[in-house]
Amino acid sequence: MRILVTGGAGFIGSNFVHHVVANTDHTVTVLDKLTYAGNRASLAGLPADRVELVVGDILDGALVDELAARHDAIVHYAAESHNDNSLADPSPFVQTNVVGTFTLLEAARKHDVRFHHISTDEVYGDLELDDPERFTEATAYNPSSPYSSTKAGSDLLVRAWVRSFGVRATISNCSNNYGPYQHVEKFIPRQITNVLRGERPKLYGSGENVRDWIHADDHSSAVLTILDKGVLGETYLIGADGEKNNREVVELILTELGQPSDAYDLVTDRPGHDLRYAIDSTKLRTELGWTPRYGDFAAGLAATITWYRDNEAWWAPQKEATEAKYRASGQA
Ligand code: NAD
Ligand code: DAU
Repeated sequence: MRILVTGGAGFIGSNFVHHVVANTDHTVTVLDKLTYAGNRASLAGLPADRVELVVGDILDGALVDELAARHDAIVHYAAESHNDNSLADPSPFVQTNVVGTFTLLEAARKHDVRFHHISTDEVYGDLELDDPERFTEATAYNPSSPYSSTKAGSDLLVRAWVRSFGVRATISNCSNNYGPYQHVEKFIPRQITNVLRGERPKLYGSGENVRDWIHADDHSSAVLTILDKGVLGETYLIGADGEKNNREVVELILTELGQPSDAYDLVTDRPGHDLRYAIDSTKLRTELGWTPRYGDFAAGLAATITWYRDNEAWWAPQKEATEAKYRASGQA
């Protein structure tokens, strides 16, 4: 297969490209605008006869049309992805996440290209800490932030293009990813790189918010499984039973890096901060036979810490600008 991967120079997209090269014979074209979140270096070392990078915008209809015409499938990762940024300026979120997805869907429709849309569990809103329920494919949409509402909008566009125009599409909604190549603005890399630089981790609010962590490589294997065996028109939730509160995660990072487990600061909370996400991925596991490989979060986190320790040249150029943004919003 020739796969067009949008956002393939970002965190999860680049992990997917590495996974495809290592585990299949497919060739990949990455379409990426290289925003502040995209990084060519995340694709370094991949074979040139299997992976091509096209620097461009998913809002560029002519470029998207030309690329769609020569691919068998589009896997759509490109997005503005950070909740805090969406609170500071929602505009690029509406453009890339909603209008960008529309632009890709129109090209997939015209050229009858298989389409897989990457989305998030945040479209479902949040859960109470003691709620026994987890999100399923039947949970009602209830997004909280500008980011999650634009992702919800993009999911609904995909569903409408399936039903109205017969576009051959699937959707997946995944929980919080961790692993190599994640931008230092995000929670886990921010805290790891803070400690590596001699700074204290920063927990929003009380640190009790829960996220359901999955290794990015497990997300990639799930997406390949859906691309291969998923039923057209269906949605699949992706998760690896990795619920942890933010305080527990920071304590693990501090301990792994030889610091006292309470050497963190509590800072200003995120407005509208979702309390808890939790995924029930029974459908993906039972209907398509997928299972995650990284069952042990502490081991996956330790490997991720090692990656950041060994790859300072990858993250250091972005650290200062990122922390300056957090200082401006009072979250430093
Ligand atoms: P990221 O911010 O690390 O990467 C996004 C990539 O998209 C970057 O390379 C950026 O340059 C590119 N991009 C942005 N706007 C573009 C445009 N207009 N045209 C072309 N390229 C553009 O994001 P991520 O964390 O890797 O997330 C990837 C996808 O996965 C997103 O759709 C996100 O909603 C979804 N997702 C993320 C998580 C998570 O935990 N990070 C979980 C579930 C789903
Ligand atoms: O659930 C999937 C989503 O996970 C994806 O759709 C998003 O693209 C991705 O960014 C992520 O969203 P979150 O808002 O959950 O991730 P973030 O890394 O920003 O924050 C994780 C948790 O950590 C959240 O409760 C906020 C908290 N946090 C974050 C930062 C950056 C802190 O306590 N301190 C911090 O410095």
